[in-house]
Amino acid sequence: MSAPESVHGMWSSRLMFILAASGSAVGLGNIWRFPYVAGENGGGAFVIVYLACIFLIGIPILSSEILLGREGRQSPIHTMKTLTKTSGANGAWQFIGWMGALAGFVILSYYSVVAGWAMAYVFEMGSGVFVNADGATASQVFADFTGSPGKVVLWHSIFMLLTMFIVARGITEGLERTVKYLMPALFALLLVLVGYAMNSGHFMEGVAFLFSFDFDKLTGAGVLMAMGQAFFTLSLGMGAIMTYGAYMPKDASILSSATSIALIDTSMALLSGLVIFPLVFANGLESSAGPGLMFVTIPIAFGSMSGGTFFGVMFFVLVSFAAITSAISLVEPALAWFVEKLNTSRRNGAIVVCTIAWALGLGSAFSTNIGSELYLLPGMTFFDSMDYVSNNIMLPLGGMLIALFTGWFLSQDIVARQLQISGGKLIMFKVLVRFVAPIGVGLVFINTFI
Ligand code: PHE
Repeated sequence: MSAPESVHGMWSSRLMFILAASGSAVGLGNIWRFPYVAGENGGGAFVIVYLACIFLIGIPILSSEILLGREGRQSPIHTMKTLTKTSGANGAWQFIGWMGALAGFVILSYYSVVAGWAMAYVFEMGSGVFVNADGATASQVFADFTGSPGKVVLWHSIFMLLTMFIVARGITEGLERTVKYLMPALFALLLVLVGYAMNSGHFMEGVAFLFSFDFDKLTGAGVLMAMGQAFFTLSLGMGAIMTYGAYMPKDASILSSATSIALIDTSMALLSGLVIFPLVFANGLESSAGPGLMFVTIPIAFGSMSGGTFFGVMFFVLVSFAAITSAISLVEPALAWFVEKLNTSRRNGAIVVCTIAWALGLGSAFSTNIGSELYLLPGMTFFDSMDYVSNNIMLPLGGMLIALFTGWFLSQDIVARQLQISGGKLIMFKVLVRFVAPIGVGLVFINTFI
């Protein structure tokens, strides 16, 4: 039935698939975006909606994406084309693949800008400006850096070039090796930071902020943000995981892999929150400080530690790597399509995809300086608009369509065969993808937009 291998290569084992997919999932979304979005939306209640979305909507859709990918063994656009044919469904479902590729460009464009900030911070940390810095100083350093169009564009370009270089060389070899060492290192360093936050004197305040469920603070828009964050952090709804699934070994269990990926990803996000919020409270910063939150709190923490400069440099190096292992997966759906469609090399595909995303990213690079007054969506800079449209609309919509397709239109023999389940487990999976996930997303959309 389905092809045993993809033309783009294969992960060498189930573990490598899990590491690569976790590498995609764990990134700026966990360390940078989760804490600041939770902070802007009041903390605890946001977190519980986010967790509910991860488990009830995220894991079923994650599994669906992997199974579609492994069945189709191609880029999402071509996988959807093949699967609609074999299942006798309408070819319009290919839309999932097209919108996903587009979302990849949109996300990568601003993702690269923020990843560039993180890379620049390797050197800011190394320069020692944060030694014994207070909140005001750290905020100023961030404002100065992001206020410089030249510096931001430079680092955005460097990050995009690195991404291009890695995807061009083929990911199986280089990427597998990178993730294997860096993911555990990042985890360990986060634990060191949690230890530091525990001694900040404000740890319980941070815990309370993240885990006290005060639903009065949560708005309808906040629920949409929580759902969007769940999709973003799991890399769902745009075909990244579908593409990675296409390279997954035939016999590996999809459901248990999906659960592991979700657990790894969620623990990284919660740990980041447990580092950042105690430091926010200990330093008199605002929990709703926005995108600069990580770039202000983390340097203060390291600045006051002995050996902090070293650990601070390490931290931003690891964040940059976490960003690269995610960026690669943003490129892959469009890249794989280019290679299949035009029968060209990965190198050419990488150059085209990364150049387009780079150009689009200039808009976001300028959003913190010369373009800060330019609004695309009402009241939102170019950067904010890219983030809003991709995370709050494209990813949930893509995810909803993926669930509907898997649940209702894909041949259900494929589902059972790919997931290797039957009976009660299969019924539960179907209930989740047919009803819970699409209705959940649908209700949030209706509540927000109507
Ligand atoms: N999951 C990544 C992160 O949290 C971002 C991402 C989104 C990557 C969508 C791929 C696809 O940083």
